[in-house]
Formats: sequence, structure tokens, C-alpha cells
Amino acid sequence: MRRQVAAPSRAPPALEATGRGRYNRPWRRATGAAEVTSGDHLRRLADLAATEALASLLAAAAAPGDVLALGGDLGAGKTSFARAFVTARSRLADVPPEEVPSPTYTLVQVYELPNGTIWHMDLYRIDRPDDAWELGIEDALGQAILLIEWPERLGASLPRDRLDVRLALPPDAAGDGARGGARLAALEPQGMLAPRLAAVARGWMAGAHG
Ligand SMILES: Nc1ncnc2c1ncn2[C@@H]1O[C@H](COP(=O)(O)OP(=O)(O)OP(=O)(O)O)[C@@H](O)[C@H]1O
Ligand SMILES: [Mg+2]
Repeated sequence: MRRQVAAPSRAPPALEATGRGRYNRPWRRATGAAEVTSGDHLRRLADLAATEALASLLAAAAAPGDVLALGGDLGAGKTSFARAFVTARSRLADVPPEEVPSPTYTLVQVYELPNGTIWHMDLYRIDRPDDAWELGIEDALGQAILLIEWPERLGASLPRDRLDVRLALPPDAAGDGARGGARLAALEPQGMLAPRLAAVARGWMAGAHG
């Protein structure tokens, strides 16, 4: 069962009115968020299927109470990852996968599954960490699995115990063609992340899962 949580009243300009596409959203501020630099230890996700496989792997290891911070700039694949994660958890619970829309406007989508509730959040349009708290994160923390796009919007309120999933476009990819294929990824356990999830994350970074 999916539940939407009402978004604050700041409405974005209508895309239909401007004719602008999804990747040209003028109200979105430029950010330096979650940049992956050449010094980082990264793995390559060859295509969307590879991103989905990573999401499925982590979904199988995750449990209510886990926080996954999905970092990366516009189009890096955060929502695609979350969609595959929710779909994989649905399959594991033996319930039909449901549609997983981007929470761009609703800010939060909640999936109440037999194997635990998932909160999927997109905090891009949050201006202050307090605004995110008004969405009721504190109710979900420790109870649900949290998938948080644009986690840096939470500032110091970002849960310390979490898995950072950092996604990026390869530096050599530019323009529209960049959306068609490879991504770079880094999994970084933070704080007291549950050992079952940390072990899978470290194994994947070491190449253990193909
Ligand atoms: N390897 C890949 N991993 C993820 N997405 C990919 C990959 N290759 C191509 N894509 C495409 O790139 C797009 C990623 O969009 P998505 O909405 O997931 O990004 P996002 O990080 O959530 O962006 P936003 O910051 O706007 O929310 C999708 O159209 C997806 O099909
Ligand atoms: Mg997104």
C-alpha cells in the first residue's frame, strides 16, 4: 500500500506551461552535492540494469531501521535506484510490485510492505532541515527503511548511522547521451550502520558481487 505525505505549499512552475523537460528544472538550484572525484574508490555501473542489481542486492540485506542516503546530482540515478529497491523488497515479500513514482513533488512516498515500511524521500525542494522534520521523519527513523534523495538537505540532522550510496555520471559523459548508460557508484557505511548491510556494501565495493 502506498501513501503520499502532503508536500509543503511551495509549488514548482508547471512543466507543461514552459515546455521544459525533466532535466531542465529551472527552480532547482545548482549544487555541488555528492560529487564523486577522481580520488574516490568507485565502481562502474555499466547500465541501468547494473544500478538495479545493486539496489536489489542492498534491498535483500536491508531491514527496517536502515537509512540509505542516495547522493548524486540530477539524473545520477537516485530515483531509479529507489524504484528498484522498493520493487525488490516487494518481490521478497511476495507482493506484486507497485508503481514507484519520483517523490519530486510529494517529497515522500511511503510503501507499507509486509517485510517493513519504506519511506522514499526527495528533499531537493527542502530549504531548511526543519522542513524535512515536519514531514515526520522522526516517526519513520528506527521503524522504516529510509531512502533519502538529496540527503545533504538535512544538514546536521542527517542520521549518523547510514549507508551513503553515492552515484555519479562518469566524468567523460556529457550532455543527453550521458543518461543512456554508465554511472559510477561508491557505497560508504557511516556511523554504526548495521553490520549485515555494511558487510554487503563493503563486499560490493571489493567486487564480491560481480
Ligand atoms: N546506469 C544507470 N543507472 C541509473 N539510471 C540510469 C543509468 N543509465 C541510464 N539511466 C537513466 O538515467 C535516468 C536517471 O534518472 P533518475 O530520476 O533516476 O535520477 P535522479 O538521480 O533521481 O535525478 P533527480 O536528482 O532529478 O531526482 C533515468 O532516465 C534512467 O533510466
Ligand atoms: Mg530523483
